[in-house]
Amino acid sequence: MKRIAVFASGSGSNTENIVKFFRNNDLARVTIILSNKKDAYVLERAQQLGVPSISFNREDFYNSNKIVRTLEEQGIDMVVLAGFLWLVPQSLIDKYDGRIVNIHPALLPKYGGKGMFGMNVHNAVVAEKETETGITIHYVNGRYDEGNVIFQAKVSVNPSDTPEMVADKVHHLEYEHFPKIVEKLIATL
Ligand code: GRF
Repeated sequence: MKRIAVFASGSGSNTENIVKFFRNNDLARVTIILSNKKDAYVLERAQQLGVPSISFNREDFYNSNKIVRTLEEQGIDMVVLAGFLWLVPQSLIDKYDGRIVNIHPALLPKYGGKGMFGMNVHNAVVAEKETETGITIHYVNGRYDEGNVIFQAKVSVNPSDTPEMVADKVHHLEYEHFPKIVEKLIATL
């Protein structure tokens, strides 16, 4: 049984979806949820779901090996970023090279990079009058949203769509595809 760690900074609806997907899965389980925000709703979800969780600060993440050590002690095989807003330090990337994936709520390389998260992305997509948007699942490297793309899925944007409507469509794509792609990757480990 492979072990998955999920990092999230916010609400954690993708985290919950991934936890539930793997609950009845022979290949893997989510065994820990980590957040850089101690009041993030994802930590409440973790408790409700019965998954151990921890929060950490900048010092822990960037100037100590606390997080890498925790992942190693827990025997984590795969790291999933699901709405995690901090840049991942090189030490973590080195340890989990090719085993850290992120989801971005747009069709990268469009609408990626620093500051392009949450509603900022969907506001920009609507402002630019895009006719389609989507999700990108990609490997994580040391720069925001620049790792190799693993999977993309598209959804159409109608002229009358508000950013909130676009966000909703994108979230549904995320729920549908993210766990399955993680499962596929884990199957190759
Ligand atoms: C998702 O749209 C994800 O693509 C982005 O942040 C959002 C997180 O949503 N990176 P949630 O916390 O999983 O509800």
